[in-house]
Amino acid sequence: MKSVTVSAPGKLMLLGEHAVVYGYPCIVTAVNQRLRLTATIHDEPLLIINAPDMRIVDYKRPITMLGETETPKEVQFVAIAVKNFNEKYGLKTGISIATASEFKSTIGFGSSSASTVCVIKALSELFGKELTNKEIFDLSYKTVLDIQKKGSGFDVASAIFGKTLYFVTGGKTILPLAIDNFPIVVGYSGVKADTVRLINKVSLLFNENPKLVKDIYKDIGKIVEKAKTALEEKNCQVLGELMNLNQIHLAKLGVSTRKLDVMIHASRDAGAYGAKLSGAGGGDCMFAFAPENRMKIIEKAIKKSGGEIMQITSNAQGVRVEK
Ligand code: MEV
Repeated sequence: MKSVTVSAPGKLMLLGEHAVVYGYPCIVTAVNQRLRLTATIHDEPLLIINAPDMRIVDYKRPITMLGETETPKEVQFVAIAVKNFNEKYGLKTGISIATASEFKSTIGFGSSSASTVCVIKALSELFGKELTNKEIFDLSYKTVLDIQKKGSGFDVASAIFGKTLYFVTGGKTILPLAIDNFPIVVGYSGVKADTVRLINKVSLLFNENPKLVKDIYKDIGKIVEKAKTALEEKNCQVLGELMNLNQIHLAKLGVSTRKLDVMIHASRDAGAYGAKLSGAGGGDCMFAFAPENRMKIIEKAIKKSGGEIMQITSNAQGVRVEK
């Protein structure tokens, strides 16, 4: 049976989270841990999903009925991506999908967005649709919005385009930055974050204090613009200061946690240029941007504060077909 294997990278939000949901830019880097997905054509008009990492074995649904009843959380993104592809391009066969991830779905590296992107890319390859990256983005972003209702799409863009992107809400701008891999230390706080809950929390704060929160978004937007220049000019000191400023704004939005704060301060004390949380907050990861010769000391400091070090590098390749 005809089959294709594709892979997409996880992502790490560098600067601009939350404000990017409301029309401001962010900077995101693709990381070297990937999600792999194999799609195989078969005769019966069924979608079959195997995702051992999510403890999913032989989940089966008729393709025409996808999304009609409640879809289990673990298979939602794959199932709705197949449904959306079918509605747009008409699948004339059944599809089996198997996924395997190098990173745990509990760590906010974006397993949902990476698997959505992999489905659209794999089906596009299998059925000779030759979709452009922007077409893959539009269908993947629609899938994420169908499920989550909210989100900027930065994670989908990162899985598709890879590298380090300057990104504006909904893909209005998707600009790969001409920069090299840069040294970061990533620490996981051990707490899984619920992105939608945190977006809702910030939106509640906005409803109560629209002017104050809008000013915070605007400032985050300015920080991101300056950080883009600092990254391009390799101005480490300035980039670190901008990360620290961004962290202050995230704390004001109420999305940092005591554990993240401790890890962040420990890495600054250990010599990082700057450190901040990454993503929605409420747990998940922080990262420090650091001189090469301080990396090990910073790792130690993060571990001592109760964090787990994630061995990742930045600027990874976007979605690709695997041989
Ligand atoms: C979550 O990782 C980042 C947010 O900005 C949400 C999004 O951009 O979709 C909070």
